[in-house]
Amino acid sequence: MSDWVNAGRIMDFGIGKAVLVEIEGAKIAVYRLEDGFHAIEDICTHDGGELASGCVEGEEVICPRHGARFSIRTGEALTAPAYEPVYRFPVRVENEIVQVRDDRWD
Ligand code: FES
Repeated sequence: MSDWVNAGRIMDFGIGKAVLVEIEGAKIAVYRLEDGFHAIEDICTHDGGELASGCVEGEEVICPRHGARFSIRTGEALTAPAYEPVYRFPVRVENEIVQVRDDRWD
């Protein structure tokens, strides 16, 4: 099983602003929503746009390249031109530190 990696202190996370974490080459965008923390892959499934630099509206992030929307909570692609979801990673908080883990190869 892969290790948990520190993404930052809780206080470092603003609502609607991504913190980018890299785990062995995988870029992961970690977000704070009203109900807690969520992490999705930082690669748009349409054509590789970096979602962490996209605008956030509510629980959705908008790809900065062509405007596809993804659910931060589920990774689901909500609008064209993206149709495939982005991967969603497990997140936890330990001693005020937000941690993320790449569980794709467990
Ligand atoms: S690369 Fe994200 S919508 Fe095209």
